[in-house]
Amino acid sequence: MIYDGHTRTCGLIGNPVEHTMSPLIQNFMAEETGKNMVYVPFHVQQGDLEAAVKGAYALNLLGCNVTVPYKSDVLEYLVDIDPLAKRIGAVNTLVRVEGGYKGYNTDMPGLYRAMVHDGVDITGKKVVILGAGGVARAVAVMLYDKGAEGVILFNRTPEKAQQIADEVNGFAGADFAKAYALEDYADVLKEEKYIVIQATSVGMHPGVEKVIIAEDAFYDKIEVGYDLIFNPANTRFMQLVSSHGGRAYNGAKMLVYQGVIAFELWNNVSISRKVAEGCIRQMEEARK
Ligand code: ATR
Repeated sequence: MIYDGHTRTCGLIGNPVEHTMSPLIQNFMAEETGKNMVYVPFHVQQGDLEAAVKGAYALNLLGCNVTVPYKSDVLEYLVDIDPLAKRIGAVNTLVRVEGGYKGYNTDMPGLYRAMVHDGVDITGKKVVILGAGGVARAVAVMLYDKGAEGVILFNRTPEKAQQIADEVNGFAGADFAKAYALEDYADVLKEEKYIVIQATSVGMHPGVEKVIIAEDAFYDKIEVGYDLIFNPANTRFMQLVSSHGGRAYNGAKMLVYQGVIAFELWNNVSISRKVAEGCIRQMEEARK
């Protein structure tokens, strides 16, 4: 790509940003689609977020991604917020509009696109979520939004899962989400097989030998297991899912698709599956 007077800039606002894969993915898509865009990381210090968003607008930036620790804090500096992002309470993508930026959440639509890519259909299914942090909550909202029949949340601290269930049921209807303690799985999972989304940090590098539930009987219930962790690439959870005959995926594709959707929003284009697969390969190469 040759940059010139027409090049548009996008970037990542976060702290830290040094480990990010987003420039690789975004600049690859720009190259593949011939868009005159460049994507760079912006390390924004605590306390500088408002100035950064205003400055981005003043500098005519086309858009930004927002990462840790600013995904919720950024909400107050936006001129508009997409309804799904509002419901999730976190924004990871800013799109330039009249007078400022509109916030979107592409993390969860990214997970959904990853599932579509993998041929996993959640329509009319009761989907299991492990964990009750911010990520688990966002997954529950997305599953409602995309047509799952219900979600079953399991968490070490069941009260936290119940809090998410109450919140989601507030807009989804009384029985959409149910919450339990981890050890209750045997009594609760009555159907043959489930799609399970592992949304805790258990098993993440360096604690790679850890897994949220260790018992074999749990893994006999899993048809598809998503671990939202992507480091390591094959978590203990995924290994257990696979060894019991289930299909196991990590969070890398979700990461790619959140970037794909952001690129589509900024550039008003559709990214093909082939280009998305190219992004996945780029990321795998870079991680070697
Ligand atoms: P995030 O907002 O990124 O989702 P979080 O709020 O720290 O992160 O949530 C982490 C999740 O991992 C929680 O569900 C947590 O369980 P608790 O609610 O009981 O704290 C879960 N988690 C973390 N370490 C765990 C462990 N060793 N065993 C079981 N669950 C664990």
